[in-house]
Amino acid sequence: MRDTIADYDRQAQAYSQIRKPDPRIEAVVHQALGDARTVLNLGAGTGSYEPADRYVVAIEPSATMRNQRPPNLTPAIITTAEKIPYDDKSFDASMAMLTVHHWLDLAKGLGEMRRVTRGPCLVLSFDPDAHTDFWMFDYVPEMRVVEQQRYPSLERIEAGFGGACQVIHLPVALDCTDRFQVALYGRPEAFLVEAVRRSQSAWNFLADGVEDRFVAQLKADLEDGTWEKNYGHLRDQAFITCQLRLIVSWP
Ligand SMILES: C[S@@+](CC[C@H](N)C(=O)[O-])C[C@H]1O[C@@H](n2cnc3c(N)ncnc32)[C@H](O)[C@@H]1O
Repeated sequence: MRDTIADYDRQAQAYSQIRKPDPRIEAVVHQALGDARTVLNLGAGTGSYEPADRYVVAIEPSATMRNQRPPNLTPAIITTAEKIPYDDKSFDASMAMLTVHHWLDLAKGLGEMRRVTRGPCLVLSFDPDAHTDFWMFDYVPEMRVVEQQRYPSLERIEAGFGGACQVIHLPVALDCTDRFQVALYGRPEAFLVEAVRRSQSAWNFLADGVEDRFVAQLKADLEDGTWEKNYGHLRDQAFITCQLRLIVSWP
């Protein structure tokens, strides 16, 4: 089992620059928080998607991520989702954005989240069982396998919360400011930037040499027009429907 917290500590120095919250995704998240006044953010990272107009408590185990939280946000508490130091039903709502695939004990973390929350628990994640034809997997088929294994199924998330959830499909825009992998569907050059890849944890799960092979092949295909010929239409495609989901649990 990889220590993903150590990975973030070692190499996510540019995370807050590369992975800025996307306003369209943020709007859906904030709407799902409803009228909650107190919100717990788990795996809060650098503070993406935290609402500025509510009282937020953030939990984040990586120092590198905590240190990138902007000064207008509250400092994060040093713990993990599996060990939340709050009483039952302490918060109106809770949120876990693009983090559950890192938790060492998913069921325990989701159970803890449900325990301390009176209202909705929000999980932003990718559904590993949903179809995707993202071109990056043509270059790195190994990544499809890695991601399918890393992301928990919707069934596991519902089981962790102890009941059925609302599942909202989120399209991703061409200019999405949160540069996770599929967000770059129409901006392939971004993958050539080392800091961008270091802000995407999946690269750490590939065998040695696979990432270098991808970068070299993509660079060559961009230079000789192969990428353009195969996927160039994506440069003008406003949105992509992908595996991104907002999962909402109610007590
Ligand atoms: C992809 S980042 C997402 C950060 C932020 N929520 C966002 O949307 O940008 C994943 C975060 O989960 C954190 N993390 C890893 N294991 C965790 C755990 N067991 N409990 C809580 N957070 C964890 C990492 O340190 C990292 O900051």
